[in-house]
Amino acid sequence: PPERPVLGIETSCDETACAVYDGERGLLAHRLHSQIRLHAEYGGVVPELASRDHVARIHELVRQVLAESGVPAAELGGVAYTAGPGLIGALMVGASVAAGLATALDLPLIPVHHMEAHLLAPMLEERRPTFPFVALLVSGGHTLLVAVRGVGDYELLGESLDDAVGEAFDKTAKLLGLPYPGGPELARLAEAGNGSRFKFPRPMTDRPGLDFSFSGLKTAVLTTLPQAPEAADRADLAASFQEAVTDTLAIKCRRALDATGYTQLVVAGGVGANLRLREKLGALAQQQGFELFFPRQAFCTDNGAMIAYAGWARRAQGRATHAGPLFTTPRWP
Ligand code: KG4
Ligand code: ZN
Repeated sequence: PPERPVLGIETSCDETACAVYDGERGLLAHRLHSQIRLHAEYGGVVPELASRDHVARIHELVRQVLAESGVPAAELGGVAYTAGPGLIGALMVGASVAAGLATALDLPLIPVHHMEAHLLAPMLEERRPTFPFVALLVSGGHTLLVAVRGVGDYELLGESLDDAVGEAFDKTAKLLGLPYPGGPELARLAEAGNGSRFKFPRPMTDRPGLDFSFSGLKTAVLTTLPQAPEAADRADLAASFQEAVTDTLAIKCRRALDATGYTQLVVAGGVGANLRLREKLGALAQQQGFELFFPRQAFCTDNGAMIAYAGWARRAQGRATHAGPLFTTPRWP
């Protein structure tokens, strides 16, 4: 029988989100509450405040998506939640709510790996990739190149040896005096700048391999900062940084496609919302003749739809429901 719709809950960081996904009818409802304003005055996510706000928001969001989806709770096929990686207190909110619902409704409880959900997010779009493909996962905590052969069949091709690319965006934004969240702010500033003014390295592109390193780039920006006293200089600095990062990512993506022989590239995770990256990979795809897939921008950053989809996909495979103590983990390879 077709797998019934799955409720997905995401609380790993600073978005409270949930959604209902159905295999035949697609995404039935999704809602998100961003905590950006709550954390803004601290210049970053404050874990304790994040957990408390998830508690305050999650029930109403669940109620709303269930009502909007038109699926009676008892007809769900399971409840999926982000089990990790993420902030442990924040994760435990979503996990507890999911476990409570699953117990009350006698439904399977489905722990989801947050990065797997990012990786599968393009499947929520009408134009979607087919297996196998290469995935570039670029978020605040991860920079990964993955060979994806199917749901649950992944080979790690490369990763960042130090800062994640989103983290590099955020730290560099802080150096430039931009408010939290830095990545999108830096991208906005870069739009007005000259990206070829400052020469920054394309780290680890001059040797073989698919690993990344971004911490040196942040240091390069720091040492260049005195040459950029005016607002216009700062825009040039931001643009030059963004060029270096997106060039580096594009070079490694091309290399990963060559190494695997795959002809489809998926880009997901928060930095996948970066327009310059999209533009650059789009040009490369045309030139090299591979197909490029992005989730819509709202599903690049954290959201409930990708958790509902990943949970549904796992159920459809008959896999990975959880028994025993409630599973959450801040780190999950
Ligand atoms: O996937 P995500 O929402 O959360 C994590 O799982 O980490 O990614 C958030 C990261 C942050 O570092 C944020 O600065 C970055 O994605 N980000 C961007 C853009 N939008 C979000 N970085 C560059 N350009 C953007 N437009
Ligand atoms: Zn994420």
